[in-house]
Amino acid sequence: MKKIIVAIDGPSGSGKSTVAKRLAGRLGYMYIDTGAMYRAVALQAKRDNIDINDSASLIRLCESVRLEFVPDNGGLRTILNGEDVSEAIRTPEMSMAASDISARKEVRQALLSLQRRMGENGGVVLEGRDVGTVIFPNAEAKFFLDASLEERGKRRYKELAAKGMDVTLEQTIEDVRKRDINDSSREIAPLKMADDAVLVDSTNIGVEEVVEKMIEVVQDKIGR
Ligand code: DC
Repeated sequence: MKKIIVAIDGPSGSGKSTVAKRLAGRLGYMYIDTGAMYRAVALQAKRDNIDINDSASLIRLCESVRLEFVPDNGGLRTILNGEDVSEAIRTPEMSMAASDISARKEVRQALLSLQRRMGENGGVVLEGRDVGTVIFPNAEAKFFLDASLEERGKRRYKELAAKGMDVTLEQTIEDVRKRDINDSSREIAPLKMADDAVLVDSTNIGVEEVVEKMIEVVQDKIGR
């Protein structure tokens, strides 16, 4: 059976992670979370007190950082320099820091080669902002997952509240809105839908339905 590259892009809170994990599970593919890479680099930059406008320090950071991803229960654990930072990278502060650092070309270049190496053999579902446009413009199946700002904010809020974080719905919607602007307006590899991506709006449909739609497209591509 042909093992293809499946790209899922979209704004924060659109449901990419949940859907990408399920899809990878159904296909027996590896799940790759490109956002977790930016989050981990942002966390290390914060720990090292690096000014993200300091190009030389960013390059040194990217050269020295060790990132590993360990499959866990259908998802992935993010290991940064030997330490499991899976929870530490999911705070609202790190979301914004990841978005900020992801606008820097030094960081994008370093992560781009890692992402390509991880996915080049196919049999992978990658999620992010530029998977179908920049990382793998020739991916066989591309999706752009979207939902209304309100709905995405609500989902993010529920996730954070369930982890016991002290957040409000209004602030979470505002954070998502800011990140939308940040991620779509940067110069390098901004969030945008690839011309040949299938648009899926998940505002009013559940995870299962989204996954079914995607499976249909993927099966078509692999000729099943
Ligand atoms: O998907 P996420 O929320 O974990 O991503 C965190 C940030 O990383 C996001 O706001 C922008 C950046 N990112 C990116 O620029 N390119 C990607 N392919 C994935 C994430």
